[in-house]
Amino acid sequence: MAGEVQRGLEDVVALESRICFIDGKQGRLIYRGYDIRDLAARSTFEEVAYLLWYGRLPTAAQLGELARRLESLREIPAELARLIDLLPASAGPMDVLRTAVSALALLEPGEGTPGPTSIGGAQRLTAALPTILGAFHRRRGHLPPLEPRPGLSHAAYLVYALLGREPSELESRAIDVALILHADHDLNASTFAARVTASTLSDLYSAVTSAVGTLKGPLHGGANERVMELLDEIGAAERAEEVVRAKLERHERIMGFGHRVYKVEDPRATILREWSRKVGEAKGNLRYYHLLEKVVEVVHREKGLYPNIDLYSGSVYSLLGIPHDLFTPVFASSRVVGWTAHVLEEYDDLRLIRPTSRYVGPTDLAYVPVADRA
Ligand code: CMC
Repeated sequence: MAGEVQRGLEDVVALESRICFIDGKQGRLIYRGYDIRDLAARSTFEEVAYLLWYGRLPTAAQLGELARRLESLREIPAELARLIDLLPASAGPMDVLRTAVSALALLEPGEGTPGPTSIGGAQRLTAALPTILGAFHRRRGHLPPLEPRPGLSHAAYLVYALLGREPSELESRAIDVALILHADHDLNASTFAARVTASTLSDLYSAVTSAVGTLKGPLHGGANERVMELLDEIGAAERAEEVVRAKLERHERIMGFGHRVYKVEDPRATILREWSRKVGEAKGNLRYYHLLEKVVEVVHREKGLYPNIDLYSGSVYSLLGIPHDLFTPVFASSRVVGWTAHVLEEYDDLRLIRPTSRYVGPTDLAYVPVADRA
């Protein structure tokens, strides 16, 4: 049945899901029935991962078991470590991640077999992503591989793997909250890509490979890195007005603003703004925070746009010392939980995702043999 074309599938309801609800008018985000503000204030990334995968909050015993399991799955095979060493040091970390997830599928066949057992692959990938990123980042910096460090939460391990140091309590909690906020977001582009791949009965690792490639784009996960480029370009708060207005006059997009679903401020941005301030205060560096506040004021006045999560995440990561090109991979280290929860849901109620297009090209051209074409 031919219908109206919804460019970018805007407002198209593609499937039913029990994982995540966004109320774009009220600025609410719900994971499995729980408000993101409660989860960010009181939960941990491991607890949220359990919630998204299993559909309910864990008991203390279940939570402890998942945390131990994730910790036990961090090490990567020697073959993968060697492959990472062979990649160009100039490679983009998201390209490395995509290649590594794909390679892990070859090295660990069976982990992502379509069906409920692929929860094992989901946990394996979640645990291994920081190790993969850390291995590449250390190699490109000519640093020796890290010794395993037991007893770290996923958030603390991510910082350890990337920076080779344990974070302070405040830093660890800031990253934990950022991971909670990024863990899922309904049918965003990368999750949709994962579900499309899974809907063909392809394996979970292939679905995550599709998702990593999709998250990379600057209109999606790549925006956080570009926000920091904007802040560097602005330099000082007094220049924010001039730089932002000039960009808007040239019809350029201001990264970290606007959202397909939220018509008010992204609730994740509201929470991360506070963390940007807290971490800035702790580090004695509120420069990013003040710059961002000025940019928010100008963009809202000039375009009526609100900030999204990507506006603030980069400032938190930067204050910890995480390099800009690892921001989107940090996003992936959390969103892998949402991708895989959706892939599991897809396997549970599978229907091939295959929309149609409205063809607007010609239909009755006469074929001309190649030798006769001008
Ligand atoms: N800066 C300037 N203008 C904008 C922006 C922006 N960030 N976002 C939207 N607009 C304008 C756009 O130019 C258009 O104006 P006009 O009607 O005059 O041409 C209007 O708003 C509608 O834009 P759209 O592209 O049709 O809206 P969309 O729903 O497709 O866009 C978006 C959603 C996120 C792609 C867009 O807001 C954007 O490009 N933002 C910047 C990139 C960004 O921050 N991405 C992170 C999104 S949140 C995390 C994630 O999902 O990864």
